[in-house]
Parts: sequence; structure tokens; C-alpha cells
Amino acid sequence: MRIIVENDYHSMSKKAALMVASQITLKPDSNLGLATGGTPLAMYDKLIEMFREDEVDFNEVKSFNLDEYCGLEADHPNSYHYYMYDNFFKEINIKKENIHIPNGKADDFDRECRDYEETIKKAGGIDLQILGIGSNGHIGFNEPAESLNVATEVVNLTEETIKANSRYFESKDNVPKKAISMGMATILKADRIILLARGKNKAEAIKKTVNGKISTQEPASLLQTHPQVTIIIDQEAASLINKKDLSADCHFEICK
Ligand code: PGA
Repeated sequence: MRIIVENDYHSMSKKAALMVASQITLKPDSNLGLATGGTPLAMYDKLIEMFREDEVDFNEVKSFNLDEYCGLEADHPNSYHYYMYDNFFKEINIKKENIHIPNGKADDFDRECRDYEETIKKAGGIDLQILGIGSNGHIGFNEPAESLNVATEVVNLTEETIKANSRYFESKDNVPKKAISMGMATILKADRIILLARGKNKAEAIKKTVNGKISTQEPASLLQTHPQVTIIIDQEAASLINKKDLSADCHFEICK
């Protein structure tokens, strides 16, 4: 695990965007696993800027989003379909047929989840997965629990997540209670993973993600089992990391 502490949100987003762009330069038909939420927004902005400057080309890229709320139409302003088109896809040259996001309005959710897994597998797996992290340590919508899902499944959102995400909805009651989410193995099968976090409210979750112990109550801690994880965070999110608690193979660097 490599932990990179950047000065601020702008520099961490830029670093993540450069890593995504270099992945695409090395493999133009890369399969990207993408995340929503507030954290990756500036990374998407930087990638759009790089696309406009001809520094990255999404023509052959395939994308696979981590999750989607159950019950929201693709054109609902709070759906992750809408988020992705509005904040990223409409500004770049990714082909529509190469965009994959779970269907929150599927007639048969079990089938939707199975098909989503199959589509990722058929595409050859994910080359680079981008992740945010919940303040409760969730990745995708894999919420803290006694056991975690292996593959893509419908999940119940925790009160903490519903509360955190209610900032985007009219009220807490409007937040869907269920979502389709990639499972832990779906995520951990990616060749490379970048996890982004910023702000004090992520500091505790980041500490538990890197502290050399693994628990299903802290889903992000399972990333310690993956050989190619880069955690890019700002100073506030890094503020509770105690270097002596880091897992043995952790590489920690503070960027000035
Ligand atoms: P955030 O969400 O980027 O809006 O903080 C991250 C997450 O819940 O995974």
C-alpha cells in the first residue's frame, strides 16, 4: 500500500487525474472502475481539462461504476447515472456503449447484479479502480457488517450513509434505502486501485484503513490485502495516521 499525503484537495485531485491519464496512455482501451460522491469531482474536472488539451483520449476506454441507488431513474438528478454524465461523461469522448453503471430501475435485481459482474469479467476485468471512502469505512456501498458481499449485489444502506448522502437530497426521507454495489471481490480483483479521501471526517476511516488490521467492520481495511493500492489523501484525512501502526509493506510519503 502506498499512501500519498498531498497539501490540499486540488493537488490530490491533480495527482489522481495524472495517474488515470497515464493508465490510459499505457493502455488506451483501459477498463476504469469509477466512483461518485463529492471527493472525485475535482479529479474528473482535471481529466476533462486534460482531455481538452489533448493530453488524454477516452475513445477506447470502458467505464464501470461502483454503484447505483435502487429505485432512481437514470435521469433522476440524484442518480449516479446523472452524476456521471453531468460531471464527466458529457465533457469527454467516451463512447456511450462503453459506459457501464448498474441499473437502479432493473425489473430483476438479481439478474442485473449477475449481468453486471459478467460484463466486467467479459471486458477482461478492471485495470484501474477509483474509490472514495465513507466516514464509516465503506467502499462502493459495502457497508460495515459482520460479513461482506463478494460480488455485485443489492445492499441496504446504513443510517450513517443515508445521513451523509442526504445533503444531496431534499430530505433524509428521499434518500433510497437500497443500492446495487460492486462486491468486495469485484473491487479487489482490479489490477490497481486508487482510494481518495479528504477532510477531517474521513481521518478516522483512513486510520482504520491502513493500521495493519483487517475487519469487515471497516470494509476499506481489506484493501491492505491488495498488492497495488495507492491512497491519495489531504493532510486532514491523514491527520490520525500513526506511522508506527501502518502495515509492514506500507509506503508513506508526504508531498510538499
Ligand atoms: P464523498 O463520498 O466523496 O461524498 O465523501 C464517498 C463515499 O461515501 O464513498
